[in-house]
Amino acid sequence: MDKILVHGGGKLSGTVRISGSKNSALPILAAALLTKERCVIRGVPDLSDIHYMLTILSSLGCEVERASGTVSIKAEKIRTEAPYELVRKMRASVCVLGPLLGREHEACVSLPGGCVIGDRPIDLHLRGFAALGAAVRVQGGNVKLFASALRGNTVNMRGTHGTTVLGTDNVIMAAVLADGITEIRDAAEEPEVVDLANFLNSMGAKITGAGTSHLTIEGVKELHGTDYTVIPDRIEAGTMLVAGAIAGGKLTVDHVRPDHLAAIIGPLRDSGFHLETSARSVTISPNGATKPLHLETSPYPGFPTDMQAQMCALLVRAPGVSVVTDRVFPQRFMHVAELTRMGAQIKLSQPTAVITGNGHLSGAPVMASDLRASAALLLAGLQAEGVTEINRVYHIDRGYEHIDEKLNDLGAHIERVQA
Ligand code: EPZ
Repeated sequence: MDKILVHGGGKLSGTVRISGSKNSALPILAAALLTKERCVIRGVPDLSDIHYMLTILSSLGCEVERASGTVSIKAEKIRTEAPYELVRKMRASVCVLGPLLGREHEACVSLPGGCVIGDRPIDLHLRGFAALGAAVRVQGGNVKLFASALRGNTVNMRGTHGTTVLGTDNVIMAAVLADGITEIRDAAEEPEVVDLANFLNSMGAKITGAGTSHLTIEGVKELHGTDYTVIPDRIEAGTMLVAGAIAGGKLTVDHVRPDHLAAIIGPLRDSGFHLETSARSVTISPNGATKPLHLETSPYPGFPTDMQAQMCALLVRAPGVSVVTDRVFPQRFMHVAELTRMGAQIKLSQPTAVITGNGHLSGAPVMASDLRASAALLLAGLQAEGVTEINRVYHIDRGYEHIDEKLNDLGAHIERVQA
């Protein structure tokens, strides 16, 4: 397993081009199952999670071709059972359930296991499928769906921790070919849900209201192929902006949608940084001392849970007391123990971390545990004295395209070592 050595102290400056969105590409690739015609999807990042999804689609019978960032998928004849050994590797595999049910009226996919950021139930997905007329059985660790017909209905996506992104995606994909109108209430409003709706509408679907909490889907007879480009990755962009905040130069993220970054730009401004935006870029630069923050995650347009760990890595150096609460994934604090090993002063009582910024971190061997916690450790290493050794770096490669190379191009000193 590779590991990464981060030599702390270098200043970062310059411009980095942000890749296409992982969390947009994954459901969009699955949605290509909804037509027999070829779909061409551009701006797909080179990530292991994308590789897993393409392998699952191939195992379902899709013809899959990939040429750098462009993927072509033709789902002429498909199977409806996704293999456990592939599905268990990635939670997002669950988003093949909706298109398989929508097109074939049946599906069999293993239940996603829990993961380090918390248990990952899909009760809201299954409630949505049942509302459309599917029989839902959980048997032998698999979810089995069957419907003689799918009929439009009103579905509510709210759970104890707010709405669900992939749950909203799954119900949209199950509803686009159903008979009649489906109303989704308390739908997720993330830009990635809007991107999926735009992709499906480019295939002939009739979805309105995407980006709000109330979606309307008018079922159509069939969908046709399309050629579509996914949106830029707002979480990669946010992660790079925090790298700029931590390592102190003037850093620009290019090829982004600034309107998707408002909930990240706000806290960085409140923490004392200067940020300016143009049509497709955002630039961060230092503007005095880093100030402590009180942050609370919530579904879009709130502060994203996927940026919580990265902000903790910034706040460990902000003199004063910061309070970070994760309302979406209350257990998502695997980064705290590792940051503490580097000298951070953090008191954790889930779902809240109280950080006493002390300005100093020292490099240490640390363990990556999940995608965003691993990114936080990398960011912490940028500001630490000495070398930070991050093991199990495959976690980072799941969601960041060549992040070590991108940071080195900005002035970091990061080595990837074959372990
Ligand atoms: C998506 O996961 C993202 N993944 C996650 O990003 C992101 O953290 C999450 O949305 C929240 O924004 C992809 O898009 C591939 P949820 P998803 O269903 O859809 C509870 C990353 O780092 N819930 O919105 O699986 C759930 O336990 C990943 O890129 C239920 O209770 O998340 C959580 O507390 C990590 N029942 C909350 O809702 C359900 O049926 C939000 O989960 C579904 C979810």
